[in-house]
Amino acid sequence: MGVETKAKAAVKKPVVHPNTWVFFEGEYARYNDVRLGLMTHALHYGTAVFEGIRAYWNDKKSQLFLLEAAAHYDRMKRSANVMRMTLPYSTEELVNFTLELLRRNEFRSDVYVRPLLYTSSEEIGVRLHNLDRSFFIYAVPFGKYVEVDAGIRCMVSTWRRVPDQSLPARAKITGSYAQAALAKSEAVEGGFDEAIVLAIDGHVSEGSAENLFMLKDGAFVTPPVTDDILEGVTRQLLIKVIKDELNLDVLERSIDRTELYTCDELLLCGTGAQISPVIEVDRRPIGDGKVGEFTQELQNIYFSAVRGDTPKYKDWTIPVY
Ligand SMILES: Cc1ncc(COP(=O)(O)O)c(C=O)c1O
Repeated sequence: MGVETKAKAAVKKPVVHPNTWVFFEGEYARYNDVRLGLMTHALHYGTAVFEGIRAYWNDKKSQLFLLEAAAHYDRMKRSANVMRMTLPYSTEELVNFTLELLRRNEFRSDVYVRPLLYTSSEEIGVRLHNLDRSFFIYAVPFGKYVEVDAGIRCMVSTWRRVPDQSLPARAKITGSYAQAALAKSEAVEGGFDEAIVLAIDGHVSEGSAENLFMLKDGAFVTPPVTDDILEGVTRQLLIKVIKDELNLDVLERSIDRTELYTCDELLLCGTGAQISPVIEVDRRPIGDGKVGEFTQELQNIYFSAVRGDTPKYKDWTIPVY
């Protein structure tokens, strides 16, 4: 198996069971008992905001750990505000609904949680005002979203990231993920594992659904929040870990495309992607073409912390059971 095929084989699609409990419009219901109308506004116009949250199963502790849920719901509130929407619950309530949902489903594996606040009015007409909103959360067993062990091969997308002037990337709006889908499919169908997307001005923005860090001259560099990125929860965790555990600086500055080709290590990070080492960009090896030493160390620290195994980072997670 080539590197590319191995990476693809390792990523499994999540499957939802029809009897899975979901939180839908203020109540717990079974996945298959919930119905959305064909005219649902958000389905046609992308007028929804969402989150992706993970919970990690720890076999030794027989415990499920929900990761940084409050940070995700806080971001969801900010995304909603951009879209003239309001989440009808406090962050604390949302975290509690999520914990209850995970308990009801009795998950004993890694899980992905997807809350969605969407425009539920069944009517035609593009706008944000005078419309109804609904909210749901579902959760599914979930493994890797992209390969994290062998390293991935990326291409710089021909598609540019949505700019703040037209569709703010810092808000997690469903509509803007059509851009991410264009980039991802171009990369995968072109034989790569993932896309790296440039901002309109040509600077590196992020992956199709991940933030990006490169190691250069002994420091980690990541694009600033003003380079049309989603302000990632994982990005924030990594900034702290790099400083505290690796004793390296983190510079938030714009990155040129060719710095990707000349840096020493490169990684993509996100709730779904976790920490994914990049070993090649546009057919050029990064460093020696293997998973970088510091990236490996970051992965080790991250995977231990998210499974509730690092007392120092206990506050990242909430035990579900
Ligand atoms: C476009 C984009 N950038 C970055 C990220 C990483 O964000 P987080 O670490 O909060 O999951 C995601 C994932 O949700 C994303 O969709």
